[in-house]
Amino acid sequence: MGRKNILAPSILAADFNHLGDEIDAVTQAGAEYLHIDVMDGMFVPSISFGMPVISSIRRGRGCFFDVHLMVEQPERYIETFASCGADGITVHQEATRHLHRTIQEIRGHGLKAGVALNPSTPLSVLDYVLEDLDMVLIMTVNPGFGGQKYIPQMTEKVRTLRARAEALGLDLDIEVDGGVNDKTIHTVLGAGANVCVAGSAVFGGDRAANVHKYLEIMEKYPVYE
Ligand code: DX5
Ligand code: ZN
Repeated sequence: MGRKNILAPSILAADFNHLGDEIDAVTQAGAEYLHIDVMDGMFVPSISFGMPVISSIRRGRGCFFDVHLMVEQPERYIETFASCGADGITVHQEATRHLHRTIQEIRGHGLKAGVALNPSTPLSVLDYVLEDLDMVLIMTVNPGFGGQKYIPQMTEKVRTLRARAEALGLDLDIEVDGGVNDKTIHTVLGAGANVCVAGSAVFGGDRAANVHKYLEIMEKYPVYE
C-alpha cells in the first residue's frame, strides 16, 4: 500500500453551532481525514475541545480521525483518545519527555502514530524514532490558532524530511498544518508533503467547493513512493 495525497480539513475552523453538518459537508465532498485539534491552554495558549466532543462526532462516521494533541504530557491521554475513536494520534515532540515510549503506546492501541514539530524544532530530534512513525506533522505556523500565515522556511524542512524518508526507504506520511491555502498548497506538495491540513481555507465559504478545489490540486501532484 503506497502513500496518497490526503486532504485533512481542520474542524477548528468549523462553525461549532452546526458541527455535525460541517463535518458531513466536507467528508461527503470527498475529504478522507478529519483533523481534530485538541488544545490544553498549557502547551498552547488556547483551549479548544476534548474527549466528549470527539466521542460525540465519532458516532455514525467512518472518516479517519486525525487527532492532533497540542497538550502537555500527552502520554496521559493516549488511552482515552483511543477509546474516544481516534484513528491516528499525533503528539508534539516538545510536549513529551519519553517520545519513544509515547509512540509505542499509540501503536500499542493499534493507531497510526504521528509526531508534530514546532517550526523552530529541528528534524534531528526524530533521528532515532523515524522508523517507528506513520506520520510526521511539520507545523507550518506556530501551533495554537487557526488563520495564521504560512512560515516560508518550513518548505525546506518538508523537502529535507522527504529526502531523508526516501533515503531510508520509509513509507512516511508528511503532514503540514497551518496557513495552507490555494497558493501554499502547491509549495508544500511540491516539497513532498502528502497530508494537507486546511482549516480556514476549507471552512471559509462554500465547504464542498473548497474541498473539490483542493482535491483537484492534490491529484496533480505525484505521490512519492
Ligand atoms: C493550529 C492548528 C491547525 C489549524 C490550522 O495550531 O494545529 O490545525 O486549525 O488552521 P489554518 O488552516 O486556518 O491555518
Ligand atoms: Zn492541527
